[in-house]
Amino acid sequence: MKSIIIYYSQTGNTKKIAKAIHDGMNQLSEKCDIATPGELDPKKLIQYDLIGFGAPVWHQQEPMNISKFIKKMPLLKGKHSFTFCTHGLLLGLFIARMILALKERQLEVIGWKDWFGNYYNGPQPYFTHDHPDKIDLQEAKNFGRKILERSKKIFQGDRKLIPKLPNKKEYHKIYGVSTSEKPGGKKQLESFLNQNKPKLNKEKCKFPKCSICMKNCPTQCIDMAKSPLISYEHCDSCFFCSLLCPTGALETKFHSEVNDMEKVKMYYQNFAKDLLKYKTLRNFRCLIPENKLLQHKGLLMIEQHPRLIIRKGIGVLPSKIYSQFLDSLNGEP
Ligand SMILES: Cc1cc2nc3c(=O)[nH]c(=O)nc-3n(C[C@H](O)[C@H](O)[C@H](O)COP(=O)(O)O)c2cc1C
Repeated sequence: MKSIIIYYSQTGNTKKIAKAIHDGMNQLSEKCDIATPGELDPKKLIQYDLIGFGAPVWHQQEPMNISKFIKKMPLLKGKHSFTFCTHGLLLGLFIARMILALKERQLEVIGWKDWFGNYYNGPQPYFTHDHPDKIDLQEAKNFGRKILERSKKIFQGDRKLIPKLPNKKEYHKIYGVSTSEKPGGKKQLESFLNQNKPKLNKEKCKFPKCSICMKNCPTQCIDMAKSPLISYEHCDSCFFCSLLCPTGALETKFHSEVNDMEKVKMYYQNFAKDLLKYKTLRNFRCLIPENKLLQHKGLLMIEQHPRLIIRKGIGVLPSKIYSQFLDSLNGEP
């Protein structure tokens, strides 16, 4: 039986979970492959029996690079799939939309799971600080082993192991109601996303010496040699370019609007309170004392550049920002 995990990760949380699931699957002594969307031709998936898809939750759904990859896959009737994600406080429609997208490729969906992951753009330490932790990773390992065992048994004919998909009411109870499902919410979300597309300050841009934004944009929507430089209809408003840009040439409106820390803190505190009715948040293990939360600026509010650097394909905090970040955990200004 051949299996593979396809994942995207911007700041490493989903990568950690994907690797732990991969370890769990490999415990059953069969080699499982692992790749990112850019490393694999979707047509090659025809050779696999079990395919897992993982990504961070962005704006309460899956990133565009993952949905585009799934759309390019051939129909995979009879094969098994599962999905997983990491997220901050609100998973929204990620699981529902992924299940639908996989079913559209005629895959049998045999499992799904989510984990909390730190959100660096929000004020720090964020509620989900230090997730995924050891417990999360062990859970992910177990999930990997179990999903492969389940897949084998289903292939042997035990079809009652195929999980029932939650209906809308059950889904909302567990994962919450996403903004786009609320009256006027779709427009609200669209307008937030449109306002937060990056704008280029040509004077600060170092292209062609620097092309970090182009190389790392998950949807490849930036090409400084073309006009327009940014194809906004393919931009996922993921802020990655503005985090990576070494000179601050690419910025978003979000950045300029979030300088009042007290306001920001209040916004996030109310947001968290609002979500407590949902099962995902009630099951949350906060790894930091409540009085230490949200004391300091998140990455997007920091004026130093670059705010993130790329190491082994993912964004990590540069040492200067990292030391400030550690100070914030010790409660120092
Ligand atoms: C652009 C962007 C949008 C996000 N939107 C959400 C969201 O709607 N809900 C949520 O719970 N977390 C959200 N997050 C937080 C990420 O899902 C979380 O940090 C995740 O663990 C990141 O995974 P990664 O490290 O693999 O990139 C968002 C993060 C980014 C960068």
